[in-house]
Amino acid sequence: MKIGIVGSGYVGTTIAACFADLGHEVMNVDVDDAVVTALNDGQAPVSEPGLDDRLGRYAGETLFATTEYADLVDFAPDAVFLALPTPATEDGSIDTAIIEAGAESLGEVLVDIEGYPTVVVKSTVVPGTTEDTIGPILERESGGQIGVDFGLAVNPEFLREGSAVADFTDPDKLVFGTADDDRAREALEAVYAPLTDEADVPIVHTGRREAELIKYANNAFLAAKVSLINELGNICKEYGVDAYEVANAIGLDDRIGEQFLRSGVGWGGSCFPKDVNAIVAAAREAGYDPQLLQAAIDVNDRQPERMLELMDDHVDVEGKRVAVLGLAFKPGTDDIRNSRAIPIIEGLQARGAEVIAYDPNDGAQSAMRERFPDVTYLASASPTLSGAHAALIVTDWPEFGDLDLEFDLMSNSVVVDGRRVVDRREGITYEGLTW
Ligand code: UGA
Repeated sequence: MKIGIVGSGYVGTTIAACFADLGHEVMNVDVDDAVVTALNDGQAPVSEPGLDDRLGRYAGETLFATTEYADLVDFAPDAVFLALPTPATEDGSIDTAIIEAGAESLGEVLVDIEGYPTVVVKSTVVPGTTEDTIGPILERESGGQIGVDFGLAVNPEFLREGSAVADFTDPDKLVFGTADDDRAREALEAVYAPLTDEADVPIVHTGRREAELIKYANNAFLAAKVSLINELGNICKEYGVDAYEVANAIGLDDRIGEQFLRSGVGWGGSCFPKDVNAIVAAAREAGYDPQLLQAAIDVNDRQPERMLELMDDHVDVEGKRVAVLGLAFKPGTDDIRNSRAIPIIEGLQARGAEVIAYDPNDGAQSAMRERFPDVTYLASASPTLSGAHAALIVTDWPEFGDLDLEFDLMSNSVVVDGRRVVDRREGITYEGLTW
């Protein structure tokens, strides 16, 4: 099959490399020259395990990138995926300007692509965006008609940062929002056939609005699950009960499940915060006030301050050195977007502390340096802890679990663990956030 992909960010690049690995021919379209050059050289513009390897194998062979939408005409793809960003606006709703612009440019060449190309919305968009905004743009710009000249489908992604390639290869479900367009449905089936022929992957055939909502429901459910265990964890802490013992027990109930029960300083990243806020804003716009999801956001927003208050119980950090361990929003990534380390650093600076930070990932460290240039960034945990009056563990990088004697280098060994990675022991004043 031939597949076009508009947008070469985190999702667009991952699916490009993975589709090529499934044996398809792939053409990426991106407005950024540097990104296109990198892709054609086999280099990923984002860091993700397994990506460079795949790009290196297929770039120039079955995977090409271009800045010209018109190149899609000669390429003649069976399906074109829109994988463009839908960033958050001030009020939490999504900004569709970029994906609308992409749809416009694609629309201009769409009827010249031979056959029945299916346009597939991969970006996370609120229900109705594909049918009410993208579809009409494609029809207007192309002069063609959905269901007659080209197909329109929604195929959300459920890829986690840090394991996106593995998640693509071994999905727990595929969602094909094609409504009653049989040719669009067949196109998506053919795209994923190399995967579904090999393994028993459930395929959800549904409408476009349903597919859009499934993505939000998935993320909102998981984010709310973490906020619920955080709320229960905060209660546990009041009783001197270990929330992880409680979570392990309730996770044995199949109806609850053991995953996403790690309580702590909360969720970050580019997806949960953006998506939960967006579905709350969209629901309000549609006339429903989602109180439970709003509460999930509120609990999440409160966790960093709770962590700082636990520190305050033991030490006044004004004018003192405080170590922050972990800057990425989760281990295994360089991404600091909505990392809980951001409100933690802000809270420490508001208290007048001298912040010393360390993250095992250099990219996370330099991204945070741009955001907080007045923080000192060191190359390992030991010097970061040395002389500190308090240490806050914000990301559950495995190497923090090996720290022990390093805490003795602190001036005052107050350790506030936001991810339950450090062992409680004699000689340190240890506070777990929910245990
Ligand atoms: C999330 C979803 O898991 C993916 O399925 C989805 O495709 C992706 O968003 C997206 O919408 O593109 P991701 O943001 O990479 O993936 O991160 P997760 O591994 O889900 O973690 C999210 C946050 O929750 C992290 O900050 C993590 O530390 C936190 N978390 C997770 C907890 O605090 N406790 C847990 O038990 C689990």
